[in-house]
Amino acid sequence: MFPIHRNRRLRTNESIRSLVRETTISPNDFMFPMFVAEGKGVEVPLGSMPGLFRRSIDLTVKEVKELWRLGIKAVNIYVKVDDKLKDNAGKEAWNKDGLMQQTIRAIKDAVPGMIVMPDVALDPYSIYGHDGIVENGLIVNDATVDALTLMSVSHADAGADFVAPSDMMDGRVYAIRKALEESGHHDVGIMSYSAKYASSFYGPFRDALDSAPGFGDKKTYQMDYANRIEAIKEALHDVEEGADIVMVKPGMAYLDIVREVKNAVNVPVAVYQVSGEYAMVKAAAERGWLDHDKIMIEQLHCIKRAGADIISTYFAKEAAIILNR
Ligand code: PBG
Repeated sequence: MFPIHRNRRLRTNESIRSLVRETTISPNDFMFPMFVAEGKGVEVPLGSMPGLFRRSIDLTVKEVKELWRLGIKAVNIYVKVDDKLKDNAGKEAWNKDGLMQQTIRAIKDAVPGMIVMPDVALDPYSIYGHDGIVENGLIVNDATVDALTLMSVSHADAGADFVAPSDMMDGRVYAIRKALEESGHHDVGIMSYSAKYASSFYGPFRDALDSAPGFGDKKTYQMDYANRIEAIKEALHDVEEGADIVMVKPGMAYLDIVREVKNAVNVPVAVYQVSGEYAMVKAAAERGWLDHDKIMIEQLHCIKRAGADIISTYFAKEAAIILNR
């Protein structure tokens, strides 16, 4: 009761504030999503994601070395696949010499300690831009899961530490776990995009990979943003099916979900601060409307405070540079 309790005592100066601070962030918390393209010496700036590039493998590896030097321990890999390699089944996804598989090998060769988490979903490989196989205008679940298991094993064969299914098909975590066990990849983990919402925040990502759905939307597999309890169900199912890490995506607008999932599961929770969130901060900062670095650091704290054990963020490199100062 006032004046016995004066809450401001604990905010008097930065020293006491740092002593009582409940949440801290460090480069150990981050994963950096990277876009990879065919070729050599290729570095294409991403229009709707200022400061980021789609790079060929050689320059991706160079960047990964720099990330490692900054203390970042994990990368999420997404590839831009040539249109002529796309089909309905996404067969290129499990080509052992495909762009993803080559990228994984190159990164693990150059920086063995870096945790490599390739994206497992068919959309970059699909002529329809959908995360699954299309039959009669529908995204079919079980045939897609079979394809995702082949894809996951090929990533593991190439040296991936974790596979990261982002497709939202039912039963894929169990099927992938089983396939990894049967192929001897006992130590390859699964980070499941468990509560992934059908979100307009993914727009800039789809620009980067040219992977927007050719018809319809992703609402028959990605979650309805109006739902909360369903996210817990998804996360619990994935843990039961063998997920080592569960993810909530997007981040900032979904922090209530992050907390719910964190309280419900006994595995680490990852949060993906997605492309649209990044673009919003960049755009406002370009106009001088927001202080870029302060907003970035604040948002990362808020995501961690909400319950994130790991944050996948396009800000990882910039934030690490600031945190290392
Ligand atoms: C594809 C995938 C998407 C993202 C990650 N993996 C896009 C989508 O589902 O359409 C979005 C990430 C971002 O916006 O940063 N399965």
